[in-house]
Amino acid sequence: MTVEKKGAKMNIKKIVADMSLRQKLAQLSQYTCDFILKDAEGMITGPAAAFNLTAEDVASIGTVLGACGAELTNKIQDTHLAEDPHKIPLLLMADIIHGYKTVYPIPLGMGATFDEDIVEECSRMAAKEAAIGGIHVTFSPMVDLVRDARWGRCMESTGEDAYLNSKMAAAQVRGYQGNFESKHNIACCVKHFAAYGAAEAGRDYNSVDMSEHKLREYYLPAYKAAIDAGCELVMTAFNTLNGIPSAGNKWLVNDILREEWGFDKIVISDYNSFREMIEHGYCADGREAAEKAVKAGNDIEMMSNTYITCMESLVADGTVSEELIDKAVLRVLKLKEKLGLFDDPARGASIEDEKTVFLCEEHRAIARKAAEKSAVLLKNNDVLPFSKSIKKIVVIGPYANKGMNGAWFGMGSEAESMTVFEGVKKLLPDCEVLYLAGCKAGFAEKAENSYDLIEEAAEAARKADAVILCIGEDSFESGEAFSKTSISIPDAQVELVKAVTSVNRNNVAAIFCGRPLVLTDIEPYLSAMAVMWQPGTEGGSACANLFFGECDFEGRLPMSFPRSVGQCPVFYNYLKTGRPQETPNGETPYRTRYLDCLNTPLYSFGYGLSYNEFEISDIALSSDKMNSDDSLIATVKVKNVGQRKGKTLIQLYISDVFASVARPVKELREYKRIELMPGEESDVSFEISEEMLRFNTVSGEFTSEKGLFKAYIGADSDTENCAEFFLI
Ligand code: GLC
Repeated sequence: MTVEKKGAKMNIKKIVADMSLRQKLAQLSQYTCDFILKDAEGMITGPAAAFNLTAEDVASIGTVLGACGAELTNKIQDTHLAEDPHKIPLLLMADIIHGYKTVYPIPLGMGATFDEDIVEECSRMAAKEAAIGGIHVTFSPMVDLVRDARWGRCMESTGEDAYLNSKMAAAQVRGYQGNFESKHNIACCVKHFAAYGAAEAGRDYNSVDMSEHKLREYYLPAYKAAIDAGCELVMTAFNTLNGIPSAGNKWLVNDILREEWGFDKIVISDYNSFREMIEHGYCADGREAAEKAVKAGNDIEMMSNTYITCMESLVADGTVSEELIDKAVLRVLKLKEKLGLFDDPARGASIEDEKTVFLCEEHRAIARKAAEKSAVLLKNNDVLPFSKSIKKIVVIGPYANKGMNGAWFGMGSEAESMTVFEGVKKLLPDCEVLYLAGCKAGFAEKAENSYDLIEEAAEAARKADAVILCIGEDSFESGEAFSKTSISIPDAQVELVKAVTSVNRNNVAAIFCGRPLVLTDIEPYLSAMAVMWQPGTEGGSACANLFFGECDFEGRLPMSFPRSVGQCPVFYNYLKTGRPQETPNGETPYRTRYLDCLNTPLYSFGYGLSYNEFEISDIALSSDKMNSDDSLIATVKVKNVGQRKGKTLIQLYISDVFASVARPVKELREYKRIELMPGEESDVSFEISEEMLRFNTVSGEFTSEKGLFKAYIGADSDTENCAEFFLI
């Protein structure tokens, strides 16, 4: 469906010139749809509030938050346009994070695919469904780098690595926005600028403190990648960065985002974050908050009213120039024009299309493929894939017969999502498939963390040919404001695993989670274990297809899985320290270690198994030196020594051994997926360029430094397969 270029090009500058200051300020304000339609309700994503708006203010509001559905959005738009003195259409924005109606895996799972194509395809599907539901802008991609599994919003990120996050960010932007030729393209908003994922102690909304070097090395690249891919909006974050709330942080927003990166499109606040600068103790009142927000470079105020109620006096006394307000309004009107809203305010909204497109088989197939590609096989003691000719299988656990959509599931519903029990029955119509809860979920029913269902489950498992355990954490245990101090498997689930695996070794656990969990208590008992994340609408069928070998595992961990929550934050690209731990058992005294836990995570970044084995040869370098205007080629031979055709992800890491600032032990620089027949061998080569060797120095340059480097090529970040070379 293409956007017809109807009517003469709008003279948006004239519109701005004809607007009163108050109308401009309303145009820069975003509220939920109940301000326009009293009885309407959309997605509520924060504390409700009253804003003392006049009828004239409401008539000139610029954008609405969280209204979904063609009928509702058309009604909102029509009601608004009847009132707006300048007939400026609304921008309708919502959180379409991993699917609108057809839900695919949470972004942490999409990161685990290490596959930009499926990420782009899912984003494109989400955009089409959202556009049909009347949405113009999604508050995605969320690209906050995460290293602390206690943080609830790990689920919304693509993980702990800046390179992977940058690739995933750009893929989402391409998928959502396309080239804006179609009404099924929507604008997208990269968030949360900046470094929201580094909240101290993993507690949501908590302070963030780091050097500019660390910020630029790890936390900023993915926002920049989204912007370079053409992202239309940036959302500033709730958190303080080095004591200054991001929303009012002029250095961050104006100096870096606008001036250094040249971003001249819309910057929108997070929910009520301007007014929360008072809570932060950074502003004395709404007036100071409005001044600091607009001077920092923010355009739209989401769900607070400092612009509307305080900006007129700031302009009147010359504290804020109206020119600044005009620039902000122009950015908003430019996007409305780009989306064709002046010509067609309904744009892609279609009640008819909702009936045929939402959850259609094509979209379910995309969601299923994504769920299959996001799953990560952590352990397999030769039990998987199960044979499809088995006669009896039991599916056990609190998540065995529950749709698992995760947080930010849009308009999806778990009732419409296929459960593991349903997926196995669908795949094996002739097999006897039983479902038993086995225990209550644990966290959710802490008081009744039941154990009385375990015995019956174990008895059923004893009589079955195979067992699938479905455990982990519930969809609502991760997401915004859902940080946890314990990320272990609840005790009732641990006891269930022990009881079931003691009577049937033909078992696998599907781990449902929105963050890395501590699997230390259950790993020793299980024959096989796979992380399914929160896989969405087709999670159950994806599980069945993977466990019965209809497809193979391809996923790799985008975040380290700790042995203990006490290790958090734990991540692969750590600094060596002056006393690196030398022995795997971590017992060398006076070297960095814990007395009660190894330094290493239980499962590392980039790790994942498949149904095949692959051998990777030593690295061959085209040279042991390179200068800054050439490159060298690093090659390994990869051989499939398994029994079936299969894929593996070959990863290139670089280590800058000595530099003007301590550098990580290694950093991911590229990855390639290769498919080989049994016995087949092939070369995998990477071009190592000087650009790959650059980093942000503490003196503010982004450059490479001559000296010794190591190239690592392997199947995960633990690889020690390396070769040395010099940049001369
Ligand atoms: C929420 C979230 C943000 C979301 C916004 C609108 O508080 O922090 O990610 O996009 O409000 O719902």
